[in-house]
Amino acid sequence: MEPRTGVVQDAARSVPPESELRVELDSIQPEQRLVTGIGPWDEVLGGGLVVGSTILVGGEPGIGKSTLVLQISGALGQVGKVLYVSGEESRSQILGRLRRLGLNPGNLLLATTNSLAGALAMAEQVRPVALIMDSLQSFSPDDEVFGSGTPAQLKATAAAISGFSKKTGVSALIIGHVTKDGTIAGPKYVEHLVDGVLYMEGDRFGAYRLLRAGKNRYGRSGETGFFEMTSNGLVPIADPSSAFVSDVHNLQPGSVVVPAAQGSFAVLVEVQALAATSYLPSPRRIATGLDYGRLMIALAILERRAGTSAGGKDIYVNISGDFSVEDRGIDLALGWSLYSALRNIPVRDAVMPVAELGLAGDLRPVFNLHRRVELGARMGFREFVISDKARDDLSDLNGITLHRKRYMTEAIAIGFPRGAGAAPDVG
Ligand code: TYD
Ligand code: MG
Repeated sequence: MEPRTGVVQDAARSVPPESELRVELDSIQPEQRLVTGIGPWDEVLGGGLVVGSTILVGGEPGIGKSTLVLQISGALGQVGKVLYVSGEESRSQILGRLRRLGLNPGNLLLATTNSLAGALAMAEQVRPVALIMDSLQSFSPDDEVFGSGTPAQLKATAAAISGFSKKTGVSALIIGHVTKDGTIAGPKYVEHLVDGVLYMEGDRFGAYRLLRAGKNRYGRSGETGFFEMTSNGLVPIADPSSAFVSDVHNLQPGSVVVPAAQGSFAVLVEVQALAATSYLPSPRRIATGLDYGRLMIALAILERRAGTSAGGKDIYVNISGDFSVEDRGIDLALGWSLYSALRNIPVRDAVMPVAELGLAGDLRPVFNLHRRVELGARMGFREFVISDKARDDLSDLNGITLHRKRYMTEAIAIGFPRGAGAAPDVG
């Protein structure tokens, strides 16, 4: 038997010269990007769609995904041919929509099929700058079993599109339907097979849409862009900061307005809580737009640190605009909103809570405090409850009062002077 070093000696003969391994930063080419001029879209992707990348655009049915990618197709038509393959809508439906959007279909090639192989063969022949597949769920890698919608089918479809895209340099956009309860039916299975995932959120019966980068190999994940859905399609919103609240004064019990970080934006949202007598053995707790765990923690803090129990009550919490907020900077607002709902007293007018909450019921500083307070002040808020540990310089903000507090109970006394110290329950 050969001594084991023989393997190393064999391998040594095929080692490339050191000069080939050397790294030269100058030789790195930045990715080529396709810029559409549709601001929020380009920005969420980190400066446009990278040539040869595959992006999944996810969202609930009816939210506006097809509308968005048609508009993107129209813009990319300036650069070259775009092949739009729809497995869901008829040719005339799509033409009708094109007309409604006022798009020039000059460079748009439109195909309707459910065959993945057929779509890719077309793209191979046409070699467009971008291939749009609408939707992931409507194509099958195996024409025999179309419509099964199994994870294996979705993965095989996404892998084939992404592979085609890598091989040919044709950028691909795949639309993926997502179910409302947040368990992302299809897209979750294929996230690792694509270069980026953008989610479209919002109230599909309302006007505003948020586009959020989940994963992005070529940009910042978490980046957001805002649109308004109009009768002529999606229109970018340059400053979304106050788009999601109608009135910031004389709020109902349970409502608290607060700035929330969304990507690089700070956006005013209304946290709404409703508490109602429960007739269930274990009362309901439903959080829409924020993590269920955070609702449970806020309830626990209220009970243990502020003497306000939600026992026997069903609790519903919602964020206006119907998008999700991960930002911990709304913690105190969430606590206030629950307190306000449970005691049935409104928050004092023009007072805004801007802090994170610790388990001890302690107020913690938020990032970008200056920006949040400035936004609140611009929208008519005059008093701000912040953490006593915040070190931000807010001295340039005039005409406002800052309450620097250590604990939730002290904060509540500012926001709810009528409620502080009152009995823990209301009827
Ligand atoms: P659509 O793009 O079909 O949603 P998805 O592909 O995510 O299922 O959007 C459907 C909704 O958008 C539909 O209810 C009509 C509305 N819409 C407008 O309000 N304005 C428009 O210009 C267009 C094209 C659609
Ligand atoms: Mg659609």
